[in-house]
Amino acid sequence: MPFDFHNKRVVVTGGANGIGLAVSRSFAAAGASVSILDLSAEKPAEVAQTLGAQGYAVDVSDKDSVDDAFNHLNDSDIVVAGAGIAPHGPLMSVPADVWNRTLAVNLTGVFHTVQAAAACMKRRKGGAIVLIASTNSYDGEPELVAYNASKAGLLGILHTAANELGPYRIRVNAVCPGFIRTRLTESQFSRPELISEYFKHIALGRGGEPAEVAHAVLFLASDLASYITGATLLVDGGQMASKFGTWQRETDIFDGQRWTRNS
Ligand SMILES: NC(=O)c1ccc[n+]([C@@H]2O[C@H](COP(=O)([O-])OP(=O)(O)OC[C@H]3O[C@@H](n4cnc5c(N)ncnc54)[C@H](O)[C@@H]3O)[C@@H](O)[C@H]2O)c1
Repeated sequence: MPFDFHNKRVVVTGGANGIGLAVSRSFAAAGASVSILDLSAEKPAEVAQTLGAQGYAVDVSDKDSVDDAFNHLNDSDIVVAGAGIAPHGPLMSVPADVWNRTLAVNLTGVFHTVQAAAACMKRRKGGAIVLIASTNSYDGEPELVAYNASKAGLLGILHTAANELGPYRIRVNAVCPGFIRTRLTESQFSRPELISEYFKHIALGRGGEPAEVAHAVLFLASDLASYITGATLLVDGGQMASKFGTWQRETDIFDGQRWTRNS
């Protein structure tokens, strides 16, 4: 790991699973003191212990829950807002409670997190916040209307927060992962007929791993990104760069997980 985060206090929401867990693990491996905030059902304290980190039961949709955790932690140098949910369903039949809960976690939860992070970073005049947005911040994947709206909304939080917090030397950036193997997507990853079609539209011919997103998060949080704020970094294997995909019937071979060109 080329990064050094010794003496840095890092908070990761949604850190008990998937991308958040990979982020927590990478920061811990780079020497940071890591605090995982996640739902009590995900046993954040137990998960954190396996990394030599701290874990706290927090529901990011509840402002008091987030504020209590940040008040308890007292100080943080880096905050990663990763908690998210992605319920599927056709636009015309998404129930109001699913819409409300998705926005409450993915959008309002990030708002609460950024507010709490900014309050303590402002006191110490510095810090870095990284949001986990999505390629869906930009496009309209079907059957994910609430998710897409929430992730598009994160760009509004990103730009406003970067603007208002820049004078306090607080940088705010976002990563936009594409299709990453976590429990959110595992059912799709385990269907070769589905991913062989999907991956035709990804320049690198495959899905991503949580650690590959974590590396981008660490970069944006590090001093190597000292003049970067208000930015989004796609971590999508080139998916958003390609309108029609790069796949070629004659030359490309699928090994069950990845397309490779044989020419
Ligand atoms: N997996 C992908 O392909 C992908 C792509 C783009 C963006 N993302 C985003 O990355 C983030 C992590 O997703 P993942 O794929 O690792 O999923 P995951 O389900 O493995 O992890 C999400 C974590 O968020 C936590 N969480 C959910 N609601 C919460 C709440 N109210 N309060 C606190 N924690 C809560 C969950 O308990 C879980 O630990 C999400 O924001 C997701 O939208 C994922």
